Amino acid sequence: MVRKAVLPAAGLGTRFLPVTKAVPKEMLPILDRPCIEYVVVEAIEAGITDIVLVTSRGKSAMEDYFDRSPALEATLEAAGKTALLAEVRRVARLATVVTVRQQEQRGLGHAVLAAASAVGDEPFAVLLGDDIIDAPTPAIGQLARVHAETGSAVVALQEVPRSETKRYGICAGEMEAPNRMRVRAMVEKPAPEDAPSNLSIVGRYILPAEIFDILRRTAPGAGGEIQLTDAIAVLAARGEVCGLLFEGRRFDTGNPLGLLEATLHEALRRPAYAEGARALLKRFA
Ligand code: G1P
Repeated sequence: MVRKAVLPAAGLGTRFLPVTKAVPKEMLPILDRPCIEYVVVEAIEAGITDIVLVTSRGKSAMEDYFDRSPALEATLEAAGKTALLAEVRRVARLATVVTVRQQEQRGLGHAVLAAASAVGDEPFAVLLGDDIIDAPTPAIGQLARVHAETGSAVVALQEVPRSETKRYGICAGEMEAPNRMRVRAMVEKPAPEDAPSNLSIVGRYILPAEIFDILRRTAPGAGGEIQLTDAIAVLAARGEVCGLLFEGRRFDTGNPLGLLEATLHEALRRPAYAEGARALLKRFA
C-alpha cells in the first residue's frame, strides 16, 4: 500500500515569467482551483493520505492554501455564505500536507531527495504538477496497482511524436502486456536520433525508498541537473522497473497554452461551466 506522495513544487516556473515572479506556478488557476489541487486530489482519490510538498523560497502560498484560514472562515460564516465556507474548509481537509524545502535548484532528482526523511523507508508516489491527467481511475492509482502486482517501481508512459523526445525521459525495454513494459533503459531528454523509443515518461512514479540512496550517488546529467530519470535507470538496468501506458488524457500545464487547454477541458467537464464554455468557444471559432 502506497501512503505517501511527493510533489516537487520548487521550480522557478520560467515558462510562466513574469507572473511567476510573485505567484508560484503551481498556484496558477484552472478555473477556480490552483493546478496543485488537481494533483493532490488525484493522489487522495488513489488512497494516498500524506502529501509531501517540496517547495522553495517564495512559495508559501501553497502552504497557506492547504491550511485552515480562521479569519476568512469567520467572515464567510458571519455573512451567511455557507457554500463558499464549505468550499474553503474542504480544501484544508483534503490531506495531511507537510512541506520540505529544496534549498538549491539542482534538478528533479535533487528535489525528490529533499523528501527523503519525510518519506522514510517505504515505497512512495511522485506526482509532477506540470502533468494534469483526466482519467477514469486516478493515474497514480493505476500505477500503484501495477506496483502491488509486481513489486516493481512503476513509471507512467505515453507515446509522443519522435520530434518531441528531447522534452521527456524516454524508456526502452520489452512489452510484458499490451499496456506494460519491462523497462531496461531510460534516457533523459534525448535528441530524436538518439531516442531508444517514442515512449515518454509522464510525471507519475511509484518508487522504492532505495531510490534515495541511488540519488545521493547520481551525478548531474542532462542540463547539468541531478535527474530522477538517471536514478530510476539504475533500477531499470536490474529489471526492477515497469512502464505503464496508463488510461487517461494528460495535459502539460507547464506552459501557458497547455494551461489554457487544460482549463477549457475542465470547463467543458464541469456542469457549472460547460454551457458557458461552449458558448465562448463558438464566439472564437
Ligand atoms: C520531467 C522529467 C522527464 C519527464 C517529464 C514529464 O521533466 O525529468 O523525464 O518526461 O518531467 O513531464 P521536466 O518536464 O521537469 O523537464
